[in-house]
Amino acid sequence: MKAHRQIYPDNPAVARAIAQQLPEWLPKSGPMRLAISGGSTPKLLFELLATEFKEALDWSRLHLFWVDERCVPPDHAQSNYRMTREALLDQVPIPAEQIHRMQGESAPEAEADRYGKGLAEQLPQANGLPVFDLILLGMGSDGHTASIFPPQMELLTDARNCAVGTHPESGQQRITLTGPVIQAAKRVAFLVTGASKTEVVAEIFEQTGNWQSYPAAHIAPAGELHWFLDEAAAGA
Ligand code: 6PG
Repeated sequence: MKAHRQIYPDNPAVARAIAQQLPEWLPKSGPMRLAISGGSTPKLLFELLATEFKEALDWSRLHLFWVDERCVPPDHAQSNYRMTREALLDQVPIPAEQIHRMQGESAPEAEADRYGKGLAEQLPQANGLPVFDLILLGMGSDGHTASIFPPQMELLTDARNCAVGTHPESGQQRITLTGPVIQAAKRVAFLVTGASKTEVVAEIFEQTGNWQSYPAAHIAPAGELHWFLDEAAAGA
């Protein structure tokens, strides 16, 4: 798997680079199936898409899914859906039936099961797995991605489409895509910014230190893999 790595001066430049790239990456006709993560860089991206790049995408073709969601109500301050609604969904005309929210307010295991079954019904399948056109991932300073944290490496190979992840410090439960669904995507793009990620990024790319203990290091999709980094995260 060859990872494409691009480095930009700062967080806003990373968000802008992805916003400019999206129209190229998403299908030119028919449905566009995109899964998004939470986090600070995606928020900047959503704000750009809702304003400067609003005319760049045919929102009527977009089918929006989440990579992960905290097990909180959709209006909770920590809800990835709430962040996305405020930054993007309230400003662009995606048909409501094409916004596939993970229900953080539901019982976690039941919602993981419901959402996973929904992916099997709503997305094209390859080798029994749902195939996204594009999955946008973040990475935590502990090397987690989606809500697959280092103590739960087994979620990287879980047979289900979705599972329940647990934040190792807060204990907060989260609904998350599992590794095989992420690996099945046509394209995966990491958005990784900030000096808190420098060491983990270096270990992953140099395959040194604890690199194998980082879930993000194990993402090698069937399609393309891109890392969009700012200089701080890249140690540039
Ligand atoms: C979440 C995100 C999470 C995020 C990373 C990076 O629900 O918290 O999906 O995986 O992408 O923690 O977040 P930052 O980009 O804000 O550092």
